[in-house]
Amino acid sequence: MEPIIQESETHDRSGTHERSGTHGLPLVDSEAAEPVATRRSAGVAESSRANRGWWDGNADEYQQEHGTFLGDDRFVWGPEGLDEVEAGLLGPVEDLQDRRVLEIGAGAAQCSRWLAAQGARPVALDLSHRQLQHALRIDDLLNRDHTVGLVQADAGGLPFADGSFDLACSAYGALPFVADAELVLREVRRVLRPGGRFVFSVSHPIRWAFPDEPGPEGLSISASYFDRVPYVEQDEQGRAVYVEHHRTIGDWVRDVVAGGFRLVDLVEPEWPAWNTQEWGGWSPLRGGLIPGTAIFVCERQETATG
Ligand SMILES: C[S@@+](CC[C@H](N)C(=O)[O-])C[C@H]1O[C@@H](n2cnc3c(N)ncnc32)[C@H](O)[C@@H]1O
Repeated sequence: MEPIIQESETHDRSGTHERSGTHGLPLVDSEAAEPVATRRSAGVAESSRANRGWWDGNADEYQQEHGTFLGDDRFVWGPEGLDEVEAGLLGPVEDLQDRRVLEIGAGAAQCSRWLAAQGARPVALDLSHRQLQHALRIDDLLNRDHTVGLVQADAGGLPFADGSFDLACSAYGALPFVADAELVLREVRRVLRPGGRFVFSVSHPIRWAFPDEPGPEGLSISASYFDRVPYVEQDEQGRAVYVEHHRTIGDWVRDVVAGGFRLVDLVEPEWPAWNTQEWGGWSPLRGGLIPGTAIFVCERQETATG
């Protein structure tokens, strides 16, 4: 049988491409077949198609490189290592019992597995078939009885009835990659019950102004924080093979509100002393100076018309 973990290209979590150095500069690469990084517009369909292909092609390496840090059944919000056990952003752990939870962009469903262990009833949704195969692999490894439902779908079109979930969450899943974040937020609102909570983490917007380097070279501003032009890697034909979208903090707040949510909190985890691990451009050095992750804690806003 073919092993699940194979050698593949080296990319990193949520758009930090190790070879690109910065979000704005073209890759210098001698192999013509390598994608070229640029900044250009990319719509909903192009972003979705590109990212599905990218995550299918890179899931093996992603899980191999980051699986230990993520843990098979931990709920980690980002490279700082903030754990839901200490953060409690979804509410008190004891309240998770029997809750229907939707995890968006779940990858190998590590967070959902933790939620299931707390007595919740999670569904892990992801665009990438290969990422979900890793979810099955980890379940088998742990001898778990597939307590997490797995669904392959785009976050922009959730295949669930209105009000199907009590809670929704996403740790760097989907939202950094979609062209229309408001559309996803509206979808999440639709499938939540009235008053339901949605907590999601993304790269902190300030990171876009700095080169994607963990060392001192990553500490000087190299691009405008206000430049919303997407980061795109494209092949020789100009087809996008990876897309990441930048939004400022203000853009996120507006998307959250326009999506029908009330912003309850915006958490910027500080880099803890115990975490000596680098993850692409996220590092103890940078993490001690600027935030790397933004976590939006939102609640479904009720209107007179529902
Ligand atoms: C950085 S990973 C995060 C996964 C997991 N939370 C983790 O920390 O490893 C991003 C995930 O979002 C998924 N994704 C990207 N775009 C998506 C979309 N439009 N809809 C659903 N999932 C998407 C990718 O397939 C990938 O598994």
